[in-house]
Amino acid sequence: MSRLSGKKIVAGICGGIAAYKAANIVSKLVQAGADVRVIMTRAACQFVTPMTFETLSHHTVLTDLWGEPLAHVELAYSTDLFVLMPATYNIVGKLAHGIADDLLTTTLAATRAPVLVVPAMESQMYTNPIFQENKKKLTELGYRFLEPEVGRLASGREGIGRFPSEEKILNTIEEMLAERALLQGHRVLVTAGPTREMLDPMRCITNKSSGKMGYALAEQARHFGADTVCLISGPTQLEPPRGVECVRVESAEEMKDAVLKRFAQYDLILMAAAVADWRPKKVSSQKLKKSEARKLTLVLEKTPDILSELGKRKKKGQILVGFAAETERLLEHAREKLREKNLDIVVANDITAPGAGPEVETNIVTLLYRDGRSETLPCLPKRAVAQEILRRVAQLL
Ligand code: CTP
Repeated sequence: MSRLSGKKIVAGICGGIAAYKAANIVSKLVQAGADVRVIMTRAACQFVTPMTFETLSHHTVLTDLWGEPLAHVELAYSTDLFVLMPATYNIVGKLAHGIADDLLTTTLAATRAPVLVVPAMESQMYTNPIFQENKKKLTELGYRFLEPEVGRLASGREGIGRFPSEEKILNTIEEMLAERALLQGHRVLVTAGPTREMLDPMRCITNKSSGKMGYALAEQARHFGADTVCLISGPTQLEPPRGVECVRVESAEEMKDAVLKRFAQYDLILMAAAVADWRPKKVSSQKLKKSEARKLTLVLEKTPDILSELGKRKKKGQILVGFAAETERLLEHAREKLREKNLDIVVANDITAPGAGPEVETNIVTLLYRDGRSETLPCLPKRAVAQEILRRVAQLL
Protein backbone atom coordinates (compact mmCIF):
# COMPACT_ATOMS: atom_id res chain seq x y z
CA MET A 1 0.00 0.00 0.00
CA SER A 2 1.26 3.48 -0.83
CA ARG A 3 2.49 5.68 1.99
CA LEU A 4 0.02 8.27 0.71
CA SER A 5 -2.96 6.04 1.14
CA GLY A 6 -5.66 7.61 3.32
CA LYS A 7 -3.63 10.78 3.92
CA LYS A 8 -5.54 14.04 3.90
CA ILE A 9 -3.81 16.62 1.76
CA VAL A 10 -4.84 20.17 0.96
CA ALA A 11 -3.50 21.49 -2.33
CA GLY A 12 -3.44 25.30 -2.49
CA ILE A 13 -3.28 26.36 -6.12
CA CYS A 14 -2.08 29.90 -6.87
CA GLY A 15 -2.09 32.07 -9.97
CA GLY A 16 0.96 31.02 -11.94
CA ILE A 17 1.30 29.28 -15.26
CA ALA A 18 2.52 26.13 -13.50
CA ALA A 19 -1.02 25.72 -12.11
CA TYR A 20 -1.64 23.36 -15.04
CA LYS A 21 1.28 21.18 -13.89
CA ALA A 22 -0.15 21.14 -10.35
CA ALA A 23 -3.20 19.35 -11.80
CA ASN A 24 -1.00 16.40 -12.62
CA ILE A 25 0.38 16.28 -9.08
CA VAL A 26 -3.15 16.27 -7.67
CA SER A 27 -4.02 13.44 -10.03
CA LYS A 28 -0.99 11.39 -8.91
CA LEU A 29 -1.78 11.96 -5.23
CA VAL A 30 -5.35 10.79 -5.73
CA GLN A 31 -4.18 7.73 -7.68
CA ALA A 32 -1.88 6.88 -4.74
CA GLY A 33 -4.90 6.86 -2.42
CA ALA A 34 -4.65 10.32 -0.84
CA ASP A 35 -7.75 12.34 -0.09
CA VAL A 36 -6.99 15.68 -1.75
CA ARG A 37 -8.97 18.84 -1.19
CA VAL A 38 -8.16 21.71 -3.52
CA ILE A 39 -8.32 25.41 -2.70
CA MET A 40 -7.76 27.81 -5.60
CA THR A 41 -7.03 31.52 -5.42
CA ARG A 42 -8.91 33.87 -7.70
CA ALA A 43 -5.80 34.26 -9.86
CA ALA A 44 -5.40 30.47 -10.13
CA CYS A 45 -8.88 30.26 -11.68
CA GLN A 46 -7.62 32.51 -14.51
CA PHE A 47 -5.08 29.82 -15.48
CA VAL A 48 -7.02 26.59 -14.94
CA THR A 49 -10.70 26.11 -14.26
CA PRO A 50 -11.86 24.64 -10.95
CA MET A 51 -13.56 21.92 -13.02
CA THR A 52 -10.15 20.41 -13.84
CA PHE A 53 -9.25 20.01 -10.16
CA GLU A 54 -12.77 18.97 -9.24
CA THR A 55 -12.62 16.12 -11.73
CA LEU A 56 -9.19 15.00 -10.56
CA SER A 57 -9.77 15.31 -6.80
CA HIS A 58 -13.40 14.06 -6.79
CA HIS A 59 -14.28 16.93 -4.46
CA THR A 60 -15.76 20.38 -4.89
CA VAL A 61 -12.98 22.90 -5.32
CA LEU A 62 -13.02 25.66 -2.73
CA THR A 63 -12.43 29.19 -3.94
CA ASP A 64 -14.48 31.49 -1.80
CA LEU A 65 -14.01 32.40 1.84
CA TRP A 66 -17.67 33.38 1.95
CA GLY A 67 -18.99 30.19 0.40
CA GLU A 68 -19.04 27.42 2.98
CA PRO A 69 -18.84 28.88 6.51
CA LEU A 70 -15.91 27.51 8.55
CA ALA A 71 -14.58 25.46 5.63
CA HIS A 72 -11.15 26.95 6.34
CA VAL A 73 -11.26 25.84 9.97
CA GLU A 74 -12.39 22.30 9.18
CA LEU A 75 -9.72 21.83 6.54
CA ALA A 76 -7.06 23.46 8.68
CA TYR A 77 -7.62 20.98 11.48
CA SER A 78 -8.19 17.82 9.52
CA THR A 79 -5.34 17.92 7.04
CA ASP A 80 -2.10 15.94 7.35
CA LEU A 81 -0.21 18.14 4.91
CA PHE A 82 -0.60 21.34 2.95
CA VAL A 83 1.05 21.82 -0.43
CA LEU A 84 1.17 25.24 -2.10
CA MET A 85 1.80 24.86 -5.82
CA PRO A 86 2.74 26.88 -7.67
CA ALA A 87 3.58 29.24 -4.82
CA THR A 88 3.66 32.75 -6.24
CA TYR A 89 5.64 35.78 -5.11
CA ASN A 90 2.38 37.12 -3.78
CA ILE A 91 1.32 34.15 -1.62
CA VAL A 92 4.78 33.86 -0.06
CA GLY A 93 4.71 37.57 0.75
CA LYS A 94 1.26 37.28 2.30
CA LEU A 95 2.20 34.23 4.35
CA ALA A 96 5.37 35.85 5.65
CA HIS A 97 3.44 38.91 6.77
CA GLY A 98 0.39 37.26 8.27
CA ILE A 99 -2.08 38.42 5.64
CA ALA A 100 -5.21 36.28 5.41
CA ASP A 101 -7.58 37.85 2.90
CA ASP A 102 -8.97 34.86 1.01
CA LEU A 103 -9.84 31.22 1.64
CA LEU A 104 -6.36 29.89 0.96
CA THR A 105 -4.45 32.32 3.19
CA THR A 106 -7.06 32.04 5.95
CA THR A 107 -6.85 28.24 5.94
CA LEU A 108 -3.05 28.46 6.01
CA ALA A 109 -3.27 30.81 8.98
CA ALA A 110 -5.41 28.31 10.87
CA THR A 111 -3.51 25.11 10.13
CA ARG A 112 -0.73 23.51 12.15
CA ALA A 113 -0.10 20.84 9.52
CA PRO A 114 3.28 20.89 7.78
CA VAL A 115 3.30 23.14 4.72
CA LEU A 116 5.25 22.42 1.55
CA VAL A 117 5.82 25.52 -0.57
CA VAL A 118 6.66 24.95 -4.24
CA PRO A 119 7.58 28.31 -5.78
CA ALA A 120 7.63 28.86 -9.54
CA MET A 121 8.12 32.28 -11.11
CA GLU A 122 10.43 34.45 -13.22
CA SER A 123 13.98 34.30 -11.93
CA GLN A 124 14.11 38.04 -11.24
CA MET A 125 11.12 37.62 -8.95
CA TYR A 126 12.56 34.51 -7.30
CA THR A 127 15.94 36.13 -6.65
CA ASN A 128 14.39 39.42 -5.50
CA PRO A 129 15.79 40.02 -1.99
CA ILE A 130 12.26 40.69 -0.71
CA PHE A 131 11.14 37.23 -1.81
CA GLN A 132 14.32 35.63 -0.41
CA GLU A 133 13.81 37.42 2.91
CA ASN A 134 10.21 36.13 3.10
CA LYS A 135 11.35 32.62 2.20
CA LYS A 136 14.02 32.74 4.90
CA LYS A 137 11.52 33.90 7.49
CA LEU A 138 9.04 31.17 6.61
CA THR A 139 11.75 28.49 6.52
CA GLU A 140 12.79 29.49 10.02
CA LEU A 141 9.16 29.19 11.08
CA GLY A 142 9.09 25.59 9.83
CA TYR A 143 7.68 25.91 6.29
CA ARG A 144 9.43 23.62 3.84
CA PHE A 145 10.43 25.14 0.49
CA LEU A 146 11.29 23.18 -2.62
CA GLU A 147 13.95 24.90 -4.68
CA PRO A 148 12.72 25.64 -8.23
CA GLU A 149 14.69 24.30 -11.16
CA VAL A 150 16.89 26.21 -13.57
CA GLY A 151 15.88 26.20 -17.22
CA ARG A 152 13.55 27.78 -19.73
CA LEU A 153 10.88 29.93 -18.07
CA ALA A 154 7.43 30.91 -19.34
CA SER A 155 8.86 34.19 -20.65
CA GLY A 156 11.28 32.26 -22.85
CA ARG A 157 14.24 33.40 -20.75
CA GLU A 158 16.61 31.02 -19.02
CA GLY A 159 16.99 31.10 -15.26
CA ILE A 160 15.91 29.74 -11.89
CA GLY A 161 12.18 29.52 -11.29
CA ARG A 162 10.86 26.44 -13.09
CA PHE A 163 8.28 24.30 -11.32
CA PRO A 164 10.17 21.24 -9.95
CA SER A 165 9.66 17.79 -11.40
CA GLU A 166 6.63 15.74 -10.48
CA GLU A 167 8.88 13.11 -8.93
CA LYS A 168 10.63 15.61 -6.68
CA ILE A 169 7.35 17.05 -5.41
CA LEU A 170 5.75 13.65 -4.78
CA ASN A 171 8.87 12.34 -3.03
CA THR A 172 9.02 15.38 -0.78
CA ILE A 173 5.34 15.00 0.12
CA GLU A 174 5.91 11.33 1.03
CA GLU A 175 8.98 12.20 3.05
CA MET A 176 7.16 14.92 4.97
CA LEU A 177 4.25 12.61 5.77
CA ALA A 178 6.63 9.87 6.93
CA GLU A 179 8.36 12.36 9.23
CA ARG A 180 5.06 13.12 10.88
CA ALA A 181 5.16 9.55 12.19
CA LEU A 182 8.89 9.40 12.94
CA LEU A 183 8.44 9.44 16.73
CA GLN A 184 4.96 7.95 16.84
CA GLY A 185 4.62 5.54 19.76
CA HIS A 186 7.39 7.29 21.69
CA ARG A 187 7.41 9.50 24.76
CA VAL A 188 9.96 12.29 24.83
CA LEU A 189 11.36 14.13 27.84
CA VAL A 190 13.43 17.27 27.20
CA THR A 191 15.21 19.62 29.61
CA ALA A 192 16.05 23.16 28.60
CA GLY A 193 17.44 26.47 29.77
CA PRO A 194 19.71 27.41 32.63
CA THR A 195 19.16 26.71 36.30
CA ARG A 196 19.21 29.43 38.91
CA GLU A 197 20.96 28.83 42.22
CA MET A 198 19.92 31.36 44.82
CA LEU A 199 22.35 33.15 47.07
CA ASP A 200 19.77 35.25 48.85
CA PRO A 201 16.16 36.15 47.94
CA MET A 202 17.43 38.52 45.21
CA ARG A 203 20.74 37.20 43.90
CA CYS A 204 21.60 34.03 42.11
CA ILE A 205 24.20 32.11 40.14
CA THR A 206 23.05 31.22 36.66
CA ASN A 207 24.42 30.95 33.10
CA LYS A 208 23.81 32.34 29.61
CA SER A 209 21.65 29.49 28.29
CA SER A 210 18.56 30.83 26.48
CA GLY A 211 16.73 27.50 26.34
CA LYS A 212 16.27 27.79 22.55
CA MET A 213 17.89 24.46 21.70
CA GLY A 214 15.79 22.51 24.22
CA TYR A 215 12.57 24.28 23.23
CA ALA A 216 13.30 23.55 19.56
CA LEU A 217 13.82 19.87 20.41
CA ALA A 218 10.51 19.69 22.28
CA GLU A 219 8.69 21.45 19.44
CA GLN A 220 10.19 19.22 16.78
CA ALA A 221 9.58 16.03 18.78
CA ARG A 222 5.92 17.00 18.69
CA HIS A 223 6.18 17.80 14.98
CA PHE A 224 7.62 14.31 14.39
CA GLY A 225 4.54 12.76 15.98
CA ALA A 226 5.77 11.79 19.47
CA ASP A 227 2.87 10.59 21.62
CA THR A 228 3.82 12.81 24.57
CA VAL A 229 6.42 15.51 24.94
CA CYS A 230 7.35 16.88 28.35
CA LEU A 231 9.63 19.90 28.61
CA ILE A 232 11.28 20.58 31.95
CA SER A 233 12.52 24.11 31.72
CA GLY A 234 14.69 26.35 33.82
CA PRO A 235 13.95 30.11 33.78
CA THR A 236 13.69 31.34 30.17
CA GLN A 237 11.81 34.03 28.23
CA LEU A 238 10.38 31.46 25.82
CA GLU A 239 6.80 30.34 25.25
CA PRO A 240 6.33 26.57 25.54
CA PRO A 241 5.67 24.98 22.13
CA ARG A 242 2.11 23.93 21.33
CA GLY A 243 1.06 20.48 22.50
CA VAL A 244 4.00 20.14 24.89
CA GLU A 245 3.60 19.73 28.65
CA CYS A 246 5.87 22.31 30.25
CA VAL A 247 7.14 22.03 33.83
CA ARG A 248 8.96 25.11 35.10
CA VAL A 249 11.75 24.72 37.63
CA GLU A 250 14.44 26.99 39.03
CA SER A 251 17.33 25.13 40.62
CA ALA A 252 19.32 22.04 39.68
CA GLU A 253 17.75 20.29 42.68
CA GLU A 254 14.22 21.09 41.43
CA MET A 255 15.16 19.98 37.93
CA LYS A 256 16.52 16.73 39.29
CA ASP A 257 13.28 16.04 41.21
CA ALA A 258 11.12 16.85 38.17
CA VAL A 259 13.22 14.67 35.86
CA LEU A 260 13.60 11.67 38.17
CA LYS A 261 9.86 11.64 38.91
CA ARG A 262 9.10 11.21 35.20
CA PHE A 263 12.15 9.42 33.83
CA ALA A 264 10.75 5.87 33.93
CA GLN A 265 7.73 6.80 31.77
CA TYR A 266 9.77 8.15 28.86
CA ASP A 267 11.84 6.30 26.30
CA LEU A 268 13.69 9.22 24.74
CA ILE A 269 15.37 11.67 27.08
CA LEU A 270 17.24 14.73 25.81
CA MET A 271 19.11 16.72 28.45
CA ALA A 272 19.68 20.05 26.72
CA ALA A 273 19.56 22.09 29.94
CA ALA A 274 22.67 23.93 31.05
CA VAL A 275 22.44 22.77 34.64
CA ALA A 276 24.55 24.78 37.09
CA ASP A 277 27.38 22.64 38.43
CA TRP A 278 27.79 24.67 41.60
CA ARG A 279 25.47 26.31 44.08
CA PRO A 280 26.04 28.42 47.19
CA LYS A 281 26.50 26.15 50.19
CA LYS A 282 24.52 28.54 52.32
CA VAL A 283 21.44 30.41 51.08
CA SER A 284 20.71 33.52 53.07
CA SER A 285 17.05 34.02 53.91
CA GLN A 286 17.61 37.81 53.99
CA LYS A 287 19.23 39.97 51.35
CA LEU A 288 22.98 40.18 51.99
CA LYS A 289 23.82 43.78 52.86
CA LYS A 290 26.92 45.30 51.39
CA SER A 291 27.42 47.43 54.49
CA GLU A 292 27.94 44.31 56.60
CA ALA A 293 31.24 43.15 55.11
CA ARG A 294 34.08 44.56 53.05
CA LYS A 295 34.62 41.32 51.26
CA LEU A 296 32.26 38.46 50.56
CA THR A 297 33.55 34.94 50.13
CA LEU A 298 31.15 32.48 48.58
CA VAL A 299 31.47 28.83 49.40
CA LEU A 300 29.99 26.68 46.64
CA GLU A 301 29.05 23.04 46.65
CA LYS A 302 28.36 20.72 43.74
CA THR A 303 24.82 20.29 42.46
CA PRO A 304 23.57 16.79 41.67
CA ASP A 305 24.58 15.59 38.21
CA ILE A 306 21.15 14.67 36.87
CA LEU A 307 22.38 13.09 33.67
CA SER A 308 24.85 10.82 35.47
CA GLU A 309 22.01 9.63 37.68
CA LEU A 310 19.86 8.92 34.60
CA GLY A 311 22.75 7.02 33.04
CA LYS A 312 22.77 4.72 36.08
CA ARG A 313 19.01 4.19 36.03
CA LYS A 314 18.67 3.76 32.27
CA LYS A 315 16.77 0.62 31.22
CA LYS A 316 16.81 -1.27 27.96
CA GLY A 317 14.75 0.62 25.37
CA GLN A 318 15.55 4.04 26.82
CA ILE A 319 17.73 6.38 24.79
CA LEU A 320 19.67 9.02 26.65
CA VAL A 321 21.03 12.07 24.84
CA GLY A 322 23.37 14.48 26.59
CA PHE A 323 24.80 17.83 25.53
CA ALA A 324 28.34 19.01 25.94
CA ALA A 325 28.99 22.73 25.73
CA GLU A 326 32.75 23.10 25.55
CA THR A 327 35.33 25.81 24.98
CA GLU A 328 38.36 23.57 24.27
CA ARG A 329 39.20 19.98 23.27
CA LEU A 330 35.58 19.55 22.14
CA LEU A 331 35.57 15.95 21.00
CA GLU A 332 37.78 14.64 23.77
CA HIS A 333 35.61 16.19 26.51
CA ALA A 334 32.39 15.19 24.81
CA ARG A 335 33.52 11.58 24.44
CA GLU A 336 34.40 11.48 28.13
CA LYS A 337 30.85 12.61 28.97
CA LEU A 338 29.37 9.99 26.65
CA ARG A 339 31.28 7.27 28.47
CA GLU A 340 31.08 8.52 32.04
CA LYS A 341 27.37 9.36 31.92
CA ASN A 342 26.41 6.19 30.00
CA LEU A 343 24.82 8.11 27.09
CA ASP A 344 23.68 6.88 23.68
CA ILE A 345 24.49 10.12 21.93
CA VAL A 346 26.27 13.26 23.02
CA VAL A 347 25.66 16.47 21.13
CA ALA A 348 28.78 18.58 21.41
CA ASN A 349 29.23 22.20 20.54
CA ASP A 350 32.03 24.70 20.86
CA ILE A 351 30.25 27.66 22.42
CA THR A 352 33.05 30.03 21.39
CA ALA A 353 32.63 29.32 17.64
CA PRO A 354 30.84 32.04 15.61
CA GLY A 355 27.33 30.75 14.81
CA ALA A 356 27.14 28.54 17.91
CA GLY A 357 26.48 29.05 21.58
CA PRO A 358 23.73 30.27 23.85
CA GLU A 359 23.00 33.73 22.50
CA VAL A 360 22.68 33.08 18.78
CA GLU A 361 19.85 31.64 16.69
CA THR A 362 22.05 29.02 15.04
CA ASN A 363 24.20 26.19 16.27
CA ILE A 364 27.05 24.02 15.00
CA VAL A 365 26.99 20.59 16.61
CA THR A 366 28.89 17.33 16.40
CA LEU A 367 27.07 14.14 17.31
CA LEU A 368 29.11 11.39 18.94
CA TYR A 369 27.79 7.84 19.14
CA ARG A 370 28.69 4.92 21.41
CA ASP A 371 30.26 2.97 18.56
CA GLY A 372 32.87 5.68 18.08
CA ARG A 373 31.22 7.34 15.08
CA SER A 374 30.93 11.11 14.98
CA GLU A 375 29.20 13.50 12.61
CA THR A 376 29.47 17.29 12.38
CA LEU A 377 26.43 19.18 11.09
CA PRO A 378 26.71 22.52 9.26
CA CYS A 379 25.74 25.80 10.89
CA LEU A 380 21.92 25.70 10.97
CA PRO A 381 19.06 27.49 12.73
CA LYS A 382 18.36 25.77 16.07
CA ARG A 383 15.05 24.35 14.82
CA ALA A 384 16.83 22.64 11.92
CA VAL A 385 19.53 21.36 14.30
CA ALA A 386 16.76 19.90 16.47
CA GLN A 387 15.27 18.14 13.44
CA GLU A 388 18.62 16.68 12.44
CA ILE A 389 19.27 15.42 15.97
CA LEU A 390 15.83 13.82 16.23
CA ARG A 391 16.13 12.16 12.80
CA ARG A 392 19.32 10.48 13.97
CA VAL A 393 17.96 9.58 17.39
CA ALA A 394 14.89 8.01 15.76
CA GLN A 395 17.17 5.53 14.02
CA LEU A 396 18.33 4.25 17.40
CA LEU A 397 14.82 3.84 18.81
N1 CTP B 1 24.12 17.93 33.41
C1 CTP B 1 23.28 17.47 34.39
N2 CTP B 1 23.45 17.85 35.68
C2 CTP B 1 24.45 18.67 36.03
C3 CTP B 1 25.34 19.16 35.05
C4 CTP B 1 25.14 18.77 33.74
O1 CTP B 1 22.36 16.72 34.08
N3 CTP B 1 24.60 19.04 37.30
C5 CTP B 1 23.93 17.51 32.01
C6 CTP B 1 23.63 18.61 31.03
O2 CTP B 1 22.23 18.76 30.90
C7 CTP B 1 24.26 18.12 29.75
C8 CTP B 1 25.43 17.25 30.22
O3 CTP B 1 25.16 16.94 31.59
O4 CTP B 1 23.41 17.27 29.00
C9 CTP B 1 26.78 17.90 30.14
O5 CTP B 1 26.76 19.13 30.76
P1 CTP B 1 28.05 20.06 30.81
O6 CTP B 1 27.76 21.24 31.71
O7 CTP B 1 28.58 20.31 29.45
O8 CTP B 1 29.09 19.10 31.49
P2 CTP B 1 29.39 18.72 32.95
O9 CTP B 1 29.14 17.27 33.12
O10 CTP B 1 28.70 19.62 33.91
O11 CTP B 1 30.97 18.95 32.99
P3 CTP B 1 31.82 20.33 32.83
O12 CTP B 1 30.91 21.46 33.20
O13 CTP B 1 32.93 20.14 33.76
O14 CTP B 1 32.24 20.37 31.39
